[in-house]
Amino acid sequence: GSKQATPILLDGMSKLEYRGYDSAGIAVFDGSKIRVEKCVGRLEALRDKIKGQEPVGTLGMGHTRWATHGRPSDRNSHPHADSTGEFVVVHNGIIENYLTLKEQLVNQGHHFLSETDTEVVAHLLAQQYDGDFVSTVRKVLRLIDGSYSLVMMCAKEPDKLVCCKKDNPLVIGLGEGENFVASDIPAIIAHTRKTYVLSDGELAVVTKDAVQVTNLAGKPVNKKVYNVTWNAEAAEKGGFEHFMLKEIYEQPKAIRETLRGRVSAEKQGEVVFKELGWEKPDLFGIDRIFIVACGTAYHAGMVGKYYLEKFARIPVEVDIASEFRYRDPVIDESCLLILISQSGETSDTLAALREGKRRGARTLAVTNVVGSSLAREADDVIYTYAGPEIAVASTKAYTTQLIVMLMFAIYVANLRGKLDRDLACLLTTALLAMPDQVNRTLEEVEQIKVFARQYGSTEDVFFLGRSLDYFVALEGALKLKEISYIHAEAYAAGELKHGTLALVVEGVPVIVLATQNDVFAKTMANLKEVKARQAVVIVIAQEGETEVEKIADHVIYIPRTNKFMAPLLTVLPLQLLAYYAALTRGCDVDKPRNLAKSVTVE
Ligand code: M6R
Repeated sequence: GSKQATPILLDGMSKLEYRGYDSAGIAVFDGSKIRVEKCVGRLEALRDKIKGQEPVGTLGMGHTRWATHGRPSDRNSHPHADSTGEFVVVHNGIIENYLTLKEQLVNQGHHFLSETDTEVVAHLLAQQYDGDFVSTVRKVLRLIDGSYSLVMMCAKEPDKLVCCKKDNPLVIGLGEGENFVASDIPAIIAHTRKTYVLSDGELAVVTKDAVQVTNLAGKPVNKKVYNVTWNAEAAEKGGFEHFMLKEIYEQPKAIRETLRGRVSAEKQGEVVFKELGWEKPDLFGIDRIFIVACGTAYHAGMVGKYYLEKFARIPVEVDIASEFRYRDPVIDESCLLILISQSGETSDTLAALREGKRRGARTLAVTNVVGSSLAREADDVIYTYAGPEIAVASTKAYTTQLIVMLMFAIYVANLRGKLDRDLACLLTTALLAMPDQVNRTLEEVEQIKVFARQYGSTEDVFFLGRSLDYFVALEGALKLKEISYIHAEAYAAGELKHGTLALVVEGVPVIVLATQNDVFAKTMANLKEVKARQAVVIVIAQEGETEVEKIADHVIYIPRTNKFMAPLLTVLPLQLLAYYAALTRGCDVDKPRNLAKSVTVE
């Protein structure tokens, strides 16, 4: 556009830093050449580096990196340029054939400065340039394999950015006399809510006054404008010290939004998914369900399996997405494949979706990001309405995923006629009560802060639970590891004595989830086993289970609910424990080391 690019770039990158933050860089056309400034470290390091001598110009691009090829360093930071500095590129993804291409280019005299896969693209642009930047990009795209979202500039044609994508996300923001490109909406929402979501195989030429989208053959593509419904404030911290804390406290609202229009007091026992609109015959022929996801979403999938098997009586398998396609799963037209992903862009989850489709399975995406790749490629989509989740540690996405999985289980169970009416009513009533119960649970935080301070210096923590409590134990351990760097392990409580109990010695904190009445007595027996090894035992139990106080060192009570809802409440003190433990240890809560929010590489 006509505004200075540098402040817009830095601001946009600050919104995207959660996707990668080991180095940062910008490239701005200054009227005669493309000036590149980049360095290792957070965005702040780049701001410091260019302070007082910010690049001047109205066309530019920037990048925050999460290293895949080449360690975090100044040289490996993006943007990358060819030897003349006339072709500059930023890239998210992996160019799989870069070594072969690099070898050829080096033999032809190209001099490489970095160890990255990305740099080959800049050199290829220079090598292939035919006087027309857009046609050059098309030629280069035929040479590279792998996954990418790419944005490219050429000093010879400094009125445009050319961008394209394969497997990694790109959105285009449509402004008035200015246009934008980004990996995610938060980076551009301050400027426009009108967007194009680019699909694989599309190429966009973005100038001040126009955005032209074509396919790789150059044929124009008619893009639908997607209007973002949330505003810039939704992607800000709103007075909280960290995004994670803000997002933890947004859970009542996120759950309410996710329930809205799907469960109501008027239609007790029923779940309405207008977006699916399935009828009974839609389920004919589906005799197995696979749930595939990564990390926290995988943990939500484990709870989802329990709900679906319990209520809908269909066998369900849960797979880690990065394993799924390599184990030659027995999957065909008789299977429903559910992919859970907050971002809808996780590379392995997308690959699992494609593998499932290839084998004929029907696919259903559960995602938080409208228009994400997963949402677009799956046969059906159920959105969680958690709002933007920025902190790397997933919180409100998890609880809304649980809500969706429970609603979906009731929906399928009702279609299959498997759910007793009274139980269905009990479940939908409990669902409607969840926002308030979550609120109540979150109000009782003082005790958690004390534990976090008390046990913040510990090296190991164990989490135990049975049945649904076990799945939440896994999520609690992941949260603690991820942001506080305390080593944490979760076990099905009955499994501990098959090996791990050897590690439980005097003073080791053990967090026991004990909300499942059908296995309560057995969990108590396991609790005694660890207590006998002089562990410090913290129990999370439902209000009224005061007997636990006789054995445990500390008890955290959640509001009384039926056992199926308990995961939605027990996870809350565990999220807060991880948060306050990380604070106590001085860790960067929103941007834990080595991690990124969206894992768009394999
Ligand atoms: O966007 P996705 O839900 O597909 O992300 C999956 C995982 O990368 C994610 O849940 C990760 O485990 C979180 N950082 C955990 O807090």
